[in-house]
Amino acid sequence: MDCLKEEASMLVLNDFYRLLDLPRDRTIELDLGCGNGRFSEEAAARFPERLFLAADIMMGRMRRCDSRARRGKLNNMIPIRAEARFLTGALLPEASLNRIHILCPDPWPKDRHRHHRLICSEFVGRLYGLLKEDGEFHFSSDDQPYLEIVTRVVDRSGLFRRDDSRLAEIADLQTDFERRWLSKGKTVTHCLWVKQPYQFSGEGH
Ligand SMILES: C[S@@+](CC[C@H](N)C(=O)[O-])C[C@H]1O[C@@H](n2cnc3c(N)ncnc32)[C@H](O)[C@@H]1O
Repeated sequence: MDCLKEEASMLVLNDFYRLLDLPRDRTIELDLGCGNGRFSEEAAARFPERLFLAADIMMGRMRRCDSRARRGKLNNMIPIRAEARFLTGALLPEASLNRIHILCPDPWPKDRHRHHRLICSEFVGRLYGLLKEDGEFHFSSDDQPYLEIVTRVVDRSGLFRRDDSRLAEIADLQTDFERRWLSKGKTVTHCLWVKQPYQFSGEGH
C-alpha cells in the first residue's frame, strides 16, 4: 500500500491527508475500533486472500494489534492508528470496502455523552459510501438500548437490507470485549446489513 508506515508494520495516520491507495482487485474488510485486534487476527488467518484493515485510536491497543499481526505472519492484516471519523471521512476512498465491522463499540449510555457515539445517521451514510456494491456492515453490541438505536438508524436510512445469515462464516469469532461480556453472563447480539442500490426518491423537489 502506498502510504505512511511509521511503526513496524503499523500505519500511523495522524496528520495524513491523502486517500489510502487500496487494491481494487481484493476483498477488503475494515475492523473499526478493533481494540487489541483479536477479531482481525483470526479473520485474517481464516481468509488469507482478503485484506483486513484493523483501526483504532488508542496507540497501546494498536501496538498489541501490530504484534499479533507480526507474530501470526499475517501480511494481510494492516493495523492502522487513526480516529474513526477521520479515517472514514478523509482517508478511505469511496466504494473501496467489502465489509465494515464495528464490534462492541463503547455505547456511551449517559445521555449527555451521546455525542461520543460513533453511529448516527450521518455516519451510516458515510459507511454506505465506503462500501462497494453488495458491501456489508457488521455491528455487534451487548448494550440493548444502543443496539436498538443503531438498528433504527440503519433500517430507517433505507440504504441497507438486514441479512444476518451472511454472518455464518464468522459466527464463531469473538472479540476481546465480546468474551468479556459473555463471561459476565451478558448477551452480545450481532447484526449484518447489506448495501442496497441508491434510490433517489425526489420527494419534496
Ligand atoms: C469497547 S472497545 C471494543 C474493541 C474491540 N472491537 C472488541 O470488541 O474487543 C472500543 C474500541 O473503540 C476504540 N475507539 C473508540 N472511539 C474511537 C474513535 N473515535 N476512533 C477510533 N477508535 C475508537 C477504542 O479505543 C476501543 O479500542
